[in-house]
Amino acid sequence: MELTQAILSRRSVRQYQDRPVPREELEALLRAACWAPSAENAQPWYFVALTRPEDLRLLESTLERVSVEIRPQLEEAFSQYPQLVDMTSAFLRRLGGAPVCVLVFLQREYTGHSRDSMLESAAAAIQNLLLAAWERDIGSCWVNAVTETGYGPAIRQLFAPDKGELVSLVTLGYPLRKASSKPIRMKDRWVIR
Ligand SMILES: Cc1cc2nc3c(=O)[nH]c(=O)nc-3n(C[C@H](O)[C@H](O)[C@H](O)COP(=O)(O)O)c2cc1C
Repeated sequence: MELTQAILSRRSVRQYQDRPVPREELEALLRAACWAPSAENAQPWYFVALTRPEDLRLLESTLERVSVEIRPQLEEAFSQYPQLVDMTSAFLRRLGGAPVCVLVFLQREYTGHSRDSMLESAAAAIQNLLLAAWERDIGSCWVNAVTETGYGPAIRQLFAPDKGELVSLVTLGYPLRKASSKPIRMKDRWVIR
């Protein structure tokens, strides 16, 4: 898939097929993530890709609470779209059945130092991951609900206590259905002067 086509056609996927992502594909995605630009070329990220069913189930025990706690925030943000609220909280409970969940960490030595730049660097790596996945027909969803509800430290403790701060999760897997092609981007968000 051509890059611009991948950028324009990628959508967050919140329901996945019960089909594993081959290990070589996952390795290629993580390599692409690590080729993102980063402030001071610090490469402050660390990725832990969970693929074992027992790890994913362990994660779900925390996600159940996240899904309940984030609901009022979703109801406020999407008051016109109750179906979207239901869909998003259902997704959070089981990660839509995703066979892979990538935990994204900011490594400890960078968490205090120019944090904004380090976080932006990690975000660039995540976007690489999403696009490299979509190029291979692998869907994804970038998830911050866990860290926003304060469950980052608990998940870090479960899976990688020595890898710094958990900043995001990314689900990966083959989409259950084709994404909607509805235009969902706002107009008037740029100018050329
Ligand atoms: C930083 C960030 C955090 C996000 N957190 C969540 C989340 O917690 N749960 C979720 O369902 N989607 C989450 N998303 C996905 C957005 O809802 C989605 O990207 C946005 O609605 C645009 O839709 P699209 O990705 O299909 O183009 C997040 C996206 C970003 C960039």
